[in-house]
Amino acid sequence: MKTQVAIIGGGPSGLLLSQLLYTQGIDSIVLERKTKDYVLGRIRAGVLEQGLVQMMEEAGCADRMKAEGFPHDGTEISYGDEIFRIDFAELTGTPVMVYGQTEVTRDLYEAREKSGGQIECNVEDVVIHDAKSDAPFVTFTQDGQERRIDCDYIAGCDGFHGVSRKTIPETVRKEYEKVYPFGWLGVLSETPPVNHELIYANSDRGFALCSMRNENLSRYYIQCPISDDPNNWSDEAFWEELKRRIPSDVAAKLVTGPLIEKSIAPLRSFVCEPMQYGRLFLCGDAAHIVPPTGAKGLNTAASDVYYLYHALTAFYKSGSSDGIEGYSAKALARVWKAERFSWWFSSLMHQYPDQTVFDHKMQIAELEFLRSNRAAQKAMAENYVGLPY
Ligand code: PHB
Repeated sequence: MKTQVAIIGGGPSGLLLSQLLYTQGIDSIVLERKTKDYVLGRIRAGVLEQGLVQMMEEAGCADRMKAEGFPHDGTEISYGDEIFRIDFAELTGTPVMVYGQTEVTRDLYEAREKSGGQIECNVEDVVIHDAKSDAPFVTFTQDGQERRIDCDYIAGCDGFHGVSRKTIPETVRKEYEKVYPFGWLGVLSETPPVNHELIYANSDRGFALCSMRNENLSRYYIQCPISDDPNNWSDEAFWEELKRRIPSDVAAKLVTGPLIEKSIAPLRSFVCEPMQYGRLFLCGDAAHIVPPTGAKGLNTAASDVYYLYHALTAFYKSGSSDGIEGYSAKALARVWKAERFSWWFSSLMHQYPDQTVFDHKMQIAELEFLRSNRAAQKAMAENYVGLPY
């Protein structure tokens, strides 16, 4: 096979890049290790920055998001029984869009299929060859057959465990990492959300988050030990623990019901430098991971896609390779800021196993400062709604 851009990974980054390139007449093939149903079965965060919303529009994939998504003008932050609001609209002029990542991916699949996009699922043994040369190619097996794609460029959108990052030699690649000493137990429940906006809760029992997918589908999380098992948590135990971590007047309004999904996710901050090796470009989780506090994962992947899409378009339309050469530096500058915000927000909201009372007092002092100081609120809001591309 032959294409202009071989895209490894059929998650939201790979599909969005493929669809955006299609709008410019640039040809790509997407390779996915799993099946489409598997990809669409993964539950991820659900808050989209305006930049991603705009790219979905540009890609022609925004109709369902506009009809079914919920623009949020602010978020609530609580500590103990105290609660306050950060008003994104007033502080930044920009809302965020509450719409599940799974739905974004579903819309992108549909758009790729409608426009005859080539997505090869169930591929194994993907190997990237000659990334440093002018004639890179990708080999893989599918249904027991060896296959090969010759291409101009390769986009590595294959996630943290994918082959793309590991293709960059260890002598070139630098990795920076922080692993947090706790996880998030996340659940879905067919109940109305406890609040019309998200609530991020710091409590002395640990962090909790009240989020949502729609009027009758709630998404809740509680901080838990990393070694915990979702099977240790009965539905009742989960609800009781959540109630203890949010303000009591909010807890009194909480509608509980059977949990339809229960899973534990670890928290990690990770960055790989550079994000580019010859004609291979990394996008999203292949290059960086953030802890979910602040929902920056998909949004940071989206800004990578933005830079790469514009770099490739400039190359194919006007022969300019400036964007291509500057991709890693440009993407990383924004990635590190999203890393900082996610790390800061995580540090502010969680209880750490070795935390002292002094440390907890520092969190409370910072929360009270945030509650009362407009400059602090503005900094938080600008980061939450998304820094400029
Ligand atoms: C979610 O709805 O899954 C969600 C929302 C906000 C976050 C993380 C996860 O910061």
